[in-house]
Amino acid sequence: QTLSSRTLEGLAEYIKAGKASKIVVMTGAGISTSAGIPDFRSPETGLYANLARLNLPYAEAVFDISFFKQKPEPFYALAHELYPGKYRPTITHSFIRLLHDKGLLLKLFTQNIDCLEREAGVPDDKIVEAHGSFARQSCIECKHPYPEDDIRRHIAAKEIPRCHECKGLVKPEIVFFGEQLPQAFFENRMLPAQSDLCIVLGTSLTVQPFASLPDATRGHTPRVLINKERVGGLGNGTDDVLLLGDCDDGVKKLAEACGWLEDLEKLWAE
Ligand code: OAD
Repeated sequence: QTLSSRTLEGLAEYIKAGKASKIVVMTGAGISTSAGIPDFRSPETGLYANLARLNLPYAEAVFDISFFKQKPEPFYALAHELYPGKYRPTITHSFIRLLHDKGLLLKLFTQNIDCLEREAGVPDDKIVEAHGSFARQSCIECKHPYPEDDIRRHIAAKEIPRCHECKGLVKPEIVFFGEQLPQAFFENRMLPAQSDLCIVLGTSLTVQPFASLPDATRGHTPRVLINKERVGGLGNGTDDVLLLGDCDDGVKKLAEACGWLEDLEKLWAE
């Protein structure tokens, strides 16, 4: 066993001893709920439980590429609500930035499309946006890039943008069901094997291949899950630590145990 105990204290001791200098962080929608963005699968509040108004055949259809080609309206209705610009990063996002500032972050793998990691100041080259993001958009037919100002305007006006070149449908470069993940995901997916700590935050780990990332760590690399519920077999490893509950609380406790609480709060208040 690598940790002296599979607890917050054991973990903090490991970090304070300088043994975690190549940390991989894996995140999902749960880290943005306190910013006001719903997650997908929480039973009452998640997006998939609240899509009846969009008249979908099944909830995930809103992010399904073949459905989108037939009926882009539901996705654009949702995009109107989710479009970046009106949400502020959470203290959990700042925690990831803090790891970077301390020189400890090897890579952040995120499933989120809200761009809040960048907004919290995690540099682009440290982020793998495994499910893409709203940062770029292009035509699904001719692949021509589409200007950001135009899509922002169309989404705000509840209109569906069309390619300036071929009139094809324009889509933000979010990975839909039925589409490949970005090259960057495949280039970096074995990085967890080089890490000395893996932190999983706010994800149900239900969507593959992302869900397998924590399994790419080596056997005795500590993995910590900070999430409302236990997911994805985390807790089964010899050095897994479970900090179940709200992730903002969890990162604050971890920061405090490492002596970083003041740094974290300062960064978040910026
Ligand atoms: P989910 O909605 O599936 O899971 C969110 C997880 O975070 C759940 O386990 C929640 O209990 C937990 N959670 C919610 N709020 C929390 C909080 N404040 N503190 C701690 N935990 C909290 O979201 P993802 O795992 O991100 O894909 O979903 C994965 C993918 O499924 C998404 O990227 C999206 C979706 O279909 C695409 O759109 C391609």
